[in-house]
Amino acid sequence: VFANISQAPEDPILGVTVAYNKDSSPHKLNLGVGAYRTEEGKPLVLDVVRRAEKLLVSDISLKKEYLPITGLADFNKSSAKLILGSDSPAIQENRVATVQCLSGTGSLRVGAEFLKKHYNQHTIYIPSPTWGNHPKIFMMAGLSVKTYRYYDPATRGLDFEGLQQDLSAATSGSIVLLHACAHNPTGVDPTLDQWEHIRKLMRSKGLLPFFDSAYQGFASGSLDADAQSVRMFVADGGECLAAQSYAKNMGLYGERIGALSIVLTSADVARKVESQLKLVIRPMYSSPPIHGASIVATILNDREMYHDWTVELKAMADRIISMRKQLYDAMCAKGTPGDWSHIIKQIGMFTFTGLNPEQVAFMTSEYHVYMTSDGRISMAGLSSSKVTHLSDAMHAAVTR
Ligand code: LMR
Repeated sequence: VFANISQAPEDPILGVTVAYNKDSSPHKLNLGVGAYRTEEGKPLVLDVVRRAEKLLVSDISLKKEYLPITGLADFNKSSAKLILGSDSPAIQENRVATVQCLSGTGSLRVGAEFLKKHYNQHTIYIPSPTWGNHPKIFMMAGLSVKTYRYYDPATRGLDFEGLQQDLSAATSGSIVLLHACAHNPTGVDPTLDQWEHIRKLMRSKGLLPFFDSAYQGFASGSLDADAQSVRMFVADGGECLAAQSYAKNMGLYGERIGALSIVLTSADVARKVESQLKLVIRPMYSSPPIHGASIVATILNDREMYHDWTVELKAMADRIISMRKQLYDAMCAKGTPGDWSHIIKQIGMFTFTGLNPEQVAFMTSEYHVYMTSDGRISMAGLSSSKVTHLSDAMHAAVTR
């Protein structure tokens, strides 16, 4: 019955790794997926994660029981504190419904399914461009996806005028997806002043903010600074959704661990929302996995481990910043035509190089450099020993 099924294309991001794995060149370099690598080009398991895991396995009460539908309570509590701030009035007033989900994607999907069922507006505005999975997540949940202007290729910075015009023209009540920090793929974030304008504009039109926070700690190296955008919206007392991922900031990619928090106007509403989230989750995957949540809860609830985590996180963020500087210096030294200062101005895991799909294809076929066709490179996948190879490839692509 499936004889006529067609071959589906590879995912635009994860498919880059599939192609990379098939390449036998010793010089190959994978700058596609946003996954942190050490200076030696190896995946990194944080020391604090290893310690938490040791503690977990040495605990004779280690459980493999089902978690509740909403996940591990300690994990949910500390995740809400991490994103909203431990002194958040919304938390103190029990106005937050938090559920453990399958990393950022799962949190966005559960939030989207909830909005489709219980919110009167079904249009979501996402930035242009945005992470390739965003439109699919929201469409599959039955929301109608529109875009707002975000990135200006001419300045390689924020199109703040365009953004304001598009949000002003959005139907009142629409949902708006915002990247909490380290915008993927552009690495371009609004300033705090611009965030304040966005907040005022959105609140005046009753637009509902849905934050995707996949890089807390990666943009600036500070967990608090990288949550400022979300906290500004929560401080005004209005509603807000936030999807959190621990893939990058704890290196727990394959554990699929994240959380969805919905900030509401009263404890009573929060209780009811949580009860409805359970009805969304149960038929989807019943209840979430226990291991990743236990690791995160162990780290977030132990003062010393939390501190050690922030040190390791800062080291990862600093290494990425140093890669930016080294690549920028290499491009300047070569005299590659064009202004490459966006490499050091953009923040977070990615540089949106401005290279076009033909140039990207050339870099892959001639230099074995793998990246997404939109010209995004993962700075977290680069190491000092590969900077020359990458800058050679970029120079050749631009000047050929
Ligand atoms: C990325 O953008 O590379 C990451 O968020 C990984 C993914 O799942 O796409």
